[in-house]
Amino acid sequence: MRIRDAEAGDIAGILEIYNDAVLHTTAIWNETVVDAANRAAWLAERRRLGYPVLVAVDDDGRVAGYASFGDWRAWDGYRHTVEHSVYVHRDRRGGGVGKALMLELILRARALGKHVMVAGIEAGNAGSIRLHEGLGFEPAGVMREVGTKFGRWLDLAFLQLRLDGRAGPDGRA
Ligand SMILES: CC(C)(COP(=O)(O)OP(=O)(O)OC[C@H]1O[C@@H](n2cnc3c(N)ncnc32)[C@H](O)[C@@H]1OP(=O)(O)O)[C@@H](O)C(=O)NCCC(=O)NCCS
Repeated sequence: MRIRDAEAGDIAGILEIYNDAVLHTTAIWNETVVDAANRAAWLAERRRLGYPVLVAVDDDGRVAGYASFGDWRAWDGYRHTVEHSVYVHRDRRGGGVGKALMLELILRARALGKHVMVAGIEAGNAGSIRLHEGLGFEPAGVMREVGTKFGRWLDLAFLQLRLDGRAGPDGRA
């Protein structure tokens, strides 16, 4: 398995993982499956913004997982903070794919000069919270019943990772 930037040929694999998460998990709070054009547009938009979309690819070329980040919030003052997502194919979970994707994603965020990475995780998603805490993410609060899926309320746990030790933003000490 290797981690690399996503290419057009990875769209089908990304689409399968995304739609499986839509249909069967609370990792994505969407209820509508999408088509390949939707994921291709998403990839193009992330690229236009200079943000990475990484894939974990098996030796046979199959996409085992993917990860990406985008702006956390749209306003200027949040420009040093990104929010990411990471998804692993259901047949490949628990084998180190998610961790490998995250380690590379963190390097990419640092290389772009980002200061904080935010994870918004459904509070009952113990596996994802374990993955993130293992990478040094710290709990930053839980928002109660801000979402819904599968006929119940969902709580959103925020975790954050400080990517560097700079004291001030934009080159200030
Ligand atoms: C959450 C997810 C990304 C983790 O990826 P993964 O490849 O299964 O995780 P890894 O095998 O790399 O495990 C990384 C660490 O998390 C822990 N972990 C992963 N899944 C776990 C689970 N279900 N329960 C407990 N710990 C778990 C592993 O033990 C490992 O810990 P270690 O580094 O101390 O050994 C993956 O399970 C997934 O895609 N789930 C569905 C979608 C999802 O929840 N995405 C995250 C949305 S925020």
